[in-house]
Amino acid sequence: MSKFFVTTPIYYVNDAPHIGHAYTTILADVLSRYHRTLGDKVFFLTGLDEHGQKVMQAAQKRGLSPQAHCDDLSPRFLNLWKTLDIRYDDFIRTTQERHKKIVQLVLQKVNDNGDIYTDEYEGWYSVAEERFITDAEYESGQFRDVKKLKEKNYFFKMSKYQQKLIDYIDAHPDFIRPEHRKNEMLGFLRQPLGDLCISRPKARMDWGIEIPFDREYVTYVWFDALVNYISAAGYGSDEPKFKKWWPADVHLIGKDILTTHCVYWTTMLFSLGVPLPKTIFAHGWWLIADTKMSKSLGNVVNPLDLIESYGVDAVRFYLMREMVLGLDANFTPDSFIKCFNSDLANDFGNLLNRVSGLIHKNHDGQIPQPGILTPAEEDIKTQGNALPGKITELINQFKVQEAVTSVLDFVRSLNKYMEVQAPWKLAKTDMDSARRVLYTAAEGLRIAAIMLAPVMPQKTAAVLDILGASNTQPVWGQLKPGTILKAHPPLFPRIEVEKK
Ligand code: MSP
Repeated sequence: MSKFFVTTPIYYVNDAPHIGHAYTTILADVLSRYHRTLGDKVFFLTGLDEHGQKVMQAAQKRGLSPQAHCDDLSPRFLNLWKTLDIRYDDFIRTTQERHKKIVQLVLQKVNDNGDIYTDEYEGWYSVAEERFITDAEYESGQFRDVKKLKEKNYFFKMSKYQQKLIDYIDAHPDFIRPEHRKNEMLGFLRQPLGDLCISRPKARMDWGIEIPFDREYVTYVWFDALVNYISAAGYGSDEPKFKKWWPADVHLIGKDILTTHCVYWTTMLFSLGVPLPKTIFAHGWWLIADTKMSKSLGNVVNPLDLIESYGVDAVRFYLMREMVLGLDANFTPDSFIKCFNSDLANDFGNLLNRVSGLIHKNHDGQIPQPGILTPAEEDIKTQGNALPGKITELINQFKVQEAVTSVLDFVRSLNKYMEVQAPWKLAKTDMDSARRVLYTAAEGLRIAAIMLAPVMPQKTAAVLDILGASNTQPVWGQLKPGTILKAHPPLFPRIEVEKK
């Protein structure tokens, strides 16, 4: 038994959650559930990123204080996670006291280590945009209210740790994954690394955590947000807890926030003398019909709409089944329906319908006796017993998509076995063989359902309930002959698409 600490990015409270957010959170949930079934102690952390200029402006537009604005919006995420059956262990919000005081502690420590200095920056500042713009942007003439501004700020000596970081990445092949993202970061680190501006003067933007050694400034939002991974784990507040969980086993992130995690965060940890997370895993993006998802294109997919049409488990299944971790994936309604009809309705759902239909028709609705196995059953049994080990190996490698397809391959073997053995025919000529085949198919289905439970908690619980399978050990032979099968409607009725 070991521990597994998994994190998602903390999401900007302003955006309505879309399938990108749902994906990472479901992924963390699925990994957590697999680890829990292995008996590991799991800490699954997610939350919200609530500071910064965008939140402040959005609040102003609504005539609310930033805190009231965040409090009003945070339930959108909490409710979605509830609907999606996400079993997180902690939900952190960066506006919570427990987080703010740790950010200040981190700033103080980094400062005490001599890794923070002040500098003046002079540049073109757009009042309308509330940010410094580049010379090229200035020359484009597209910005209003531009003035030359000189501003003092605090900087973190990130450059000091550049070589240490390169050496660390080289020495720890599993630190940044997948491989091509590691190479991307090493490429980025071939250029000289600058220092990081980590403050914002309150006079310009005050929605943030105060810098403890200069109350005229607040902390830059990333320096604040990244700290959530340790503030929630007890750093600086609960040493036994922190010792138990840190380092995180995996930070799951999207590819766009690779640099902030692999460079900003890791150099911050170097400065603090805190060990780095074991793995930072960057997944690709969900594209919508091959196009980037964006508000302006109006193609943002709301997970709630999908759940309403197809059910929670089908959405969880589709997202895990379709994206190869590390690569982009393409969402289209067609691919969703195809995945649903083929994997869930035709393969998984159909196996249950056939098994339970035949047991009700020919065997008094009771799990039959297995009898003496022939090589065909031995083969299925061997596959069933090998499946859990295979899935564990894939999950440890973050190959969730392959894990799901491996279970589906087993389900297809079971369907094929049923077709070849044809227990509906055997029932007329050789009842013992009919019993043996249906026991084997039902027991195989039990194991498949257990192995898919982390992905589809509700539907697989329904399958186990129908089979009367109180034993959820994925070891062959646990179904008890004589158990009465429950009647049930089809689990995944095919989605019929009107042909145009
Ligand atoms: N608040 C920061 C993260 C701070 S972590 C210390 C942030 N928030 S976000 O809400 O903008 O994005 C959160 C995550 O959503 C990122 O990992 C990002 O990659 C992911 N996604 C945004 N669009 C996505 C897709 N279209 N597909 C998959 N994930 C996507 O960044």
